[in-house]
Amino acid sequence: MAKEFIHTLLYLLGLHSARTQTSAAERAAVARHASGCKRLAEIGVFEGATTRVIADNMHPEAEFHGIDPFFKGRIGVCWNEFIARREARWGKHGSNIKFFHGFSFDAAKSISGDFDFIFIDGDHSLEGITKDWKDWSVRVQPGAIIALHDSVVPDFDPHRGSLGSVQYYESHIRHDDRFEVVEIVDSLAVLRRKQGA
Ligand SMILES: C[S@@+](CC[C@H](N)C(=O)[O-])C[C@H]1O[C@@H](n2cnc3c(N)ncnc32)[C@H](O)[C@@H]1O
Repeated sequence: MAKEFIHTLLYLLGLHSARTQTSAAERAAVARHASGCKRLAEIGVFEGATTRVIADNMHPEAEFHGIDPFFKGRIGVCWNEFIARREARWGKHGSNIKFFHGFSFDAAKSISGDFDFIFIDGDHSLEGITKDWKDWSVRVQPGAIIALHDSVVPDFDPHRGSLGSVQYYESHIRHDDRFEVVEIVDSLAVLRRKQGA
């Protein structure tokens, strides 16, 4: 807890940035694919580093749902959420972000309609990604994008091979006939829903 608080303090002083496991190349790819999109979702916000990148690039009138349980620490505060909300405020179009406090499987029931961009980066367990893929792959229109973090083992971190998200991508997602793989950037897989699928 103390570590999180100190990080938040250093963040407020401008000495730390919002933390993220995404690489600069992955964030650049997310920015490209989110560009001009009008209805977006991110599953797993953490400190909002990628949330801000998405918001900076989406259509100015877009609706963007940031979904995370934002687990609270011992004194009842989620410092990650505190930072994520500041990132949202400082970014472009930040007021278009709606934060959903809860799990992706509950958000899938509460938030209706389709999306033109979804970034999945929440529960990386086999059970978690299996459920996310079933719930969210049906929520994009033909031509729309789903980007999944930690789906491919990047050269710089071979240990990610043990993640359920990598295993499920390899066994199911990349063979899903409804989608084509548009690009792979480090651990990020970007897929587009095929026309008519
Ligand atoms: C790897 S971090 C996300 C990083 C963020 N997308 C980024 O680019 O910096 C994973 C986040 O997913 C959240 N999370 C875990 N299970 C989740 C679920 N089922 N639905 C939504 N978020 C979840 C965690 O609270 C955590 O903040």
